[in-house]
Amino acid sequence: MQKILLMYACLFLGLAGVASKSGASETSFLDEIKDIQEKFDSRTVEKVRPVTRETVLAKDQYNGRPFRVLTRKNEINRFKCSNCHTDKAVTVNQGVELTHGSISLNHGREEQALSCIDCHHPEERDYLWDKKGEKIDFNHSYQLCGQCHFRQKRDWLGGAHGKRVANWAGERVIYNCASCHDPHSPRFKKRYPATYSPPLDR
Ligand code: HEC
Ligand code: HEC
Ligand code: HEC
Ligand code: HEC
Repeated sequence: MQKILLMYACLFLGLAGVASKSGASETSFLDEIKDIQEKFDSRTVEKVRPVTRETVLAKDQYNGRPFRVLTRKNEINRFKCSNCHTDKAVTVNQGVELTHGSISLNHGREEQALSCIDCHHPEERDYLWDKKGEKIDFNHSYQLCGQCHFRQKRDWLGGAHGKRVANWAGERVIYNCASCHDPHSPRFKKRYPATYSPPLDR
């Protein structure tokens, strides 16, 4: 910061020198520098880009500060689950295949893969649940992930994992874990760069 100011000061000394030779400038150097200083020191942001997607206040805070996350329920095709998951018995053959056949679970270690009920509430399908049996809202599924992925959750809270929506100005809104990861198959496929550097001798 000081370096930048110094650079501008020098620049202005130069410019003002030229100006005074042609007899155009009347303002003093100090005024000019003060003017620049004011411009650079005011960190006021003129434009806060609005977040146009649905958000919800997170249940966690970071350093005592609240923040928001993108909602999930509006993105889940089959929500509300209780449209089908009532207390009535299912009489359709292969009900799961018909309705949830598109879901292939690939989460956890091979020898102890996760099952549906590790995450989904067994009775109240509109909710997930934690290890203590407490309900977790789908919009707050980061609470579920955080139980097993402590480090990623901590990094996510601090902004080192995941991504912020819109820009750095304004209220902090971040992507939910499930905005990026498919909870049923959370690993990303390996990707290689679209271009590569040819060997130096070519
Ligand atoms: C179109 C109807 C329908 C909707 C909507 C629906 N389900 Fe299901 N689901 C079924 C049927 C039918 C079964 C199989 C019978 C059963 O277990 O009740 C099933 C089974 C399941 C199972 C157990 C799978 C198994 O292998 O035993 C889970 C977990 C589940 N659903 C979760 C959900 C969740 C979470 C939602 C909402 C996001 C949802 N379902 C929405 C119809 C539906
Ligand atoms: C690791 C935890 C986890 C496991 C295990 C899991 N789910 Fe899910 N499931 C989720 C979460 C979280 C969502 C919400 C995803 C989102 O926000 O997009 C979800 C969403 C769904 C949905 C709604 C998807 C949609 O787009 O309509 C269905 C149906 C569902 N799960 C069924 C199942 C079934 C059946 C199983 C077992 C075969 C299962 N889930 C296993 C965490 C899990
Ligand atoms: C009940 C515990 C549990 C929950 C809840 C859970 N996971 Fe996992 N997850 C695991 C286990 C176990 C593995 C396998 C870890 C390994 O291989 O080292 C795994 C693997 C992963 C991986 C791949 C890790 C890698 O090294 O490639 C990702 C990504 C992931 N989970 C994301 C999520 C997200 C997002 C959620 C919430 C929707 C979630 N998990 C919920 C237990 C869980
Ligand atoms: C903005 C998208 C985004 C969000 C939000 C996000 N992740 Fe990730 N996550 C990634 C990417 C990208 C990777 C790296 C995948 C790779 O290297 O193959 C990753 C990797 C992981 C891994 C594998 C181990 C590691 O650290 O590389 C786990 C576990 C994981 N995420 C869990 C979570 C959990 C839990 C949340 C929410 C608290 C979350 N992620 C939120 C994009 C995201």
